[in-house]
Amino acid sequence: MGELITLSIIKADIGSLAGHHIVHPDTLAAATKVLAEAKRKGVLIDFYVTYVGDDIQLIMTHKKGVDHPDIHGLAWEAFKEAAKVAKDLGLYAAGQDLLSEAFSGNVRGLGPGVAEMEFEERPSEPVITFHADKTEPGAFNLPLFRIFADPFNTAGLVIDPRMHEGFIFEVYDVFEGKSVKLNAPEEMYDILALIGTPSRFIIKRVYRKTDNLLAAVVSTERLNLIAGKYVGKDDPVAIVRAQHGLPAVGEVLEAFAFPHMVAGWMRGSHFGPLMPVPQRHAKCTRFDGPPRIIALGWQIKNGRLIGPADLFDDAAFEYTRFMAQLIADYIRRHGPFMPHRLGPEEMEYTTLPQVIKKLEGRFEKVQ
Ligand code: F6R
Ligand code: MG
Ligand code: MG
Repeated sequence: MGELITLSIIKADIGSLAGHHIVHPDTLAAATKVLAEAKRKGVLIDFYVTYVGDDIQLIMTHKKGVDHPDIHGLAWEAFKEAAKVAKDLGLYAAGQDLLSEAFSGNVRGLGPGVAEMEFEERPSEPVITFHADKTEPGAFNLPLFRIFADPFNTAGLVIDPRMHEGFIFEVYDVFEGKSVKLNAPEEMYDILALIGTPSRFIIKRVYRKTDNLLAAVVSTERLNLIAGKYVGKDDPVAIVRAQHGLPAVGEVLEAFAFPHMVAGWMRGSHFGPLMPVPQRHAKCTRFDGPPRIIALGWQIKNGRLIGPADLFDDAAFEYTRFMAQLIADYIRRHGPFMPHRLGPEEMEYTTLPQVIKKLEGRFEKVQ
């Protein structure tokens, strides 16, 4: 029996350089200082502070399980310290994701995004952490479905006896605050009927059917719902375990070779292609985008984070990036028209109510 360890990723946008472009190194340093102290005290086994675009990502291992107040409190403190620096430097939108002044044991609902899993470490434990900017948690629906349920993506579903039984998808309805577990391949069409609406139905976890092994988890916080108004993107993270009876690292990455359309570009109100990039390109420029995703590859050993490998830093993804550029150009030419712009109920910025109000008296009944 291997050791039970917890891998926690907690992320937040606490302010950035040149608008919503990129984190400032001094904010990363401030967060690192807090986590280093926690590691010295034995609260954390290991940690790695990184970023994608304007979001700080705290990757932590420990033995306290998920949703632990010590770990969430630590992340909160790290973000507070980083936000102080952001305010001092006058960074843009300093403190934006720290929605509440008071921390009460758990960061859920306070702004930061969280993906955590507790698992028994396998003798060799390959894990991929995904970090996206300018999009929402539902952006993982399509690739996770392909990784764990599509035999045209994942050869192992067909030819690895340990995966052949399939996987269980735990899907959240973020509007109703409910969840449902569905089996693949048997209930594939039901799964797709839900997750094809990624703004509402979000894959939260994936389990291997034969032994309930937890294979993947996604952050599902939706800032706009939490705050009841627009306060920033959800910019999601995900953890996916790989190999040895789970999809191979290459099968996991394969799902990102198609730059699918996701919501969250410019002002959280536009669709654009999700572009897999090396970390050095994880910064949003054109029209505040297009949406980016990085993949960090790890081996976890006794809770130590060995790595990362910058997995999309590969010529094999150049064509995907090129395709993403073409799609970006194509969809951009729609300007303010749907389907580039999101539907009215999904937009995070809108003037529609004001425009309708202004024109109230000028609307005439159509005969
Ligand atoms: C924020 C983002 C940006 C902003 C845009 C307008 O994460 O993606 O596209 O929505 O830059 O920002 P404000 O309203 O702060 O000027
Ligand atoms: Mg920002
Ligand atoms: Mg962001």
